[in-house]
Amino acid sequence: MPDTAAPRPEAAPWWRHASIYQIYIRSFADGNGDGVGDIAGVRSRLPYLRELGVDALWFNPWYVSPMADAGYDVADYRDIDPLFGTLAEAEELIAKAHEHGLRVIVDLVPNHCSDRHPWFPRALAAGPGSPERDRFWFLPGRGAHGELPPNDWQSYFGGPAWTRVTEADGAPGPWYLHMFAPEQPDLNWEHPEVRTEFEDILRFWLDRDVDGFRIDVAHGLAKKPGLPDVGPSPDPSDLPYQDVDAVHDVYRGWRRILDSYPGERAFIGEVWLPEAQQFARYLRPDELHSAFNFDFLCCPWDAEALRKVVDSTVEVHRTVDAPPTWVLSNHDTIRHVTRYGREDTSFDMGDKRLLDPSDPALGRRRARAAALITLALPGGVYVYQGDELGLPEVQDLPDAVLQDPTFVRSGGLDRGRDGCRVPLPWAGHTPSLGFSPGPRAADPWLPQPPAWAALCVTAQDGDPDSFLTLYREALALRRAGLAALPQTLTWTDTGPDTLGFDRPGADFRCLTNFAGLQPLPADAEVLLSSGPLRPGPNGATLLPADTTVWLRTRPAGWGSEC
Ligand code: GLC
Repeated sequence: MPDTAAPRPEAAPWWRHASIYQIYIRSFADGNGDGVGDIAGVRSRLPYLRELGVDALWFNPWYVSPMADAGYDVADYRDIDPLFGTLAEAEELIAKAHEHGLRVIVDLVPNHCSDRHPWFPRALAAGPGSPERDRFWFLPGRGAHGELPPNDWQSYFGGPAWTRVTEADGAPGPWYLHMFAPEQPDLNWEHPEVRTEFEDILRFWLDRDVDGFRIDVAHGLAKKPGLPDVGPSPDPSDLPYQDVDAVHDVYRGWRRILDSYPGERAFIGEVWLPEAQQFARYLRPDELHSAFNFDFLCCPWDAEALRKVVDSTVEVHRTVDAPPTWVLSNHDTIRHVTRYGREDTSFDMGDKRLLDPSDPALGRRRARAAALITLALPGGVYVYQGDELGLPEVQDLPDAVLQDPTFVRSGGLDRGRDGCRVPLPWAGHTPSLGFSPGPRAADPWLPQPPAWAALCVTAQDGDPDSFLTLYREALALRRAGLAALPQTLTWTDTGPDTLGFDRPGADFRCLTNFAGLQPLPADAEVLLSSGPLRPGPNGATLLPADTTVWLRTRPAGWGSEC
């Protein structure tokens, strides 16, 4: 039983310990047979998500969009793209998810909008110097004829962060800023109308009962006054287009709005910053509630490195009383089954995505072990759709099907993010592996590897050794007790190639072995194991490399009632 002397944070708000499932909607489930996932597809799979045992769903953008960056180029923040369904369907989905006990988080994209958002064509039409252009960053070029970009900023997708405008009379005009694709003009957050517009968008979705927002590029909204050059050897912690102080004022304003609504609602920031102290400022009590832990996601498969990241994570969150979060993969990164099977098991967002070889069996073993680590840690945890099926990155998508703008903008040097966005396999023996309904459905928007038939939900359902079963069991145990424990951990001294921690308040230990064979403590009972254990001498049980166990450290102790 949990130790009753320790504070029991059961009353802690859900976002402090939730397991959140990321739905990349175009690849989750297709309800109407056009080969693209949609709201109807999600709705039909709500029972699957409930059975999986997660607490909340985060939806990547579903708004009206020309899809230059898979929906992160929003043309109308208050409506749903017809590809995914209708606003009425979204409202119904939110209600149904709630009926299934699942909270709903929507993605908010405030740094930029689409070049088809009504504001942008209006700005172009209104001409140089017009107030309509002030909502964006239109600046004259440098050089004798303005033929050079206004500064040296580079787009995250490659190439200059500026595109020159051709005015109505055909004359070359100023340039506009886009930190991502040219179809994603950056908004000027110094403009009061930009602020009021987004406050209104927040209210629009809060009125529709969403439980939270994932904030895209949360560190990027404000720009350093004067938009100075980055220069030849920039300091990564002091770039003029990220973590500029004014952004915090935006979040304080948003927080007041969120807090004026009933229930527990939350902001989750996509905050990619090099310095922990910079990151922590976004999580002060009057700003965002939590943020993705990219240090953990990027960390190599190494006991010491992981321990350091966990320590620094816990410490930095403690300073602002925010819950840590744990994430292994998302729609922008290489699926960790593949990453962990590579020689270099780390991830860096700035690296080009290449076709490095990966050992699939090793990657799967480590991914299973990593799943049990993340699900045992205190705080919130994110599961990217397909993690629970052990899906690998699809590395051999033909050039012709790639859709991510990074592929084209890098001149093909970076294969982009499509390999982690391939539609899910639900049932093995249908043309789209059950992603789309019926035999007459269109092909999935990205081709699925035929070998994924073996990874589909129906193949894994009920198999005691499958990824899906491991996730279901771990999520159930987490829900039944781990999530409500005090949000702390203590390391155990189990040797250099192991990572072991206890969760105070319970007789619970998570133990991972990274090399060789490690005997389990004699009196411990195995609650869950990411892989097969081996018998050792004198009745001992041995933990093989790249395996995690959850242990009850006292017979009939914690979890025995689960
Ligand atoms: C975030 C999203 C990514 C998108 C970018 C621009 O990083 O996660 O998918 O391309 O922002 O909106």
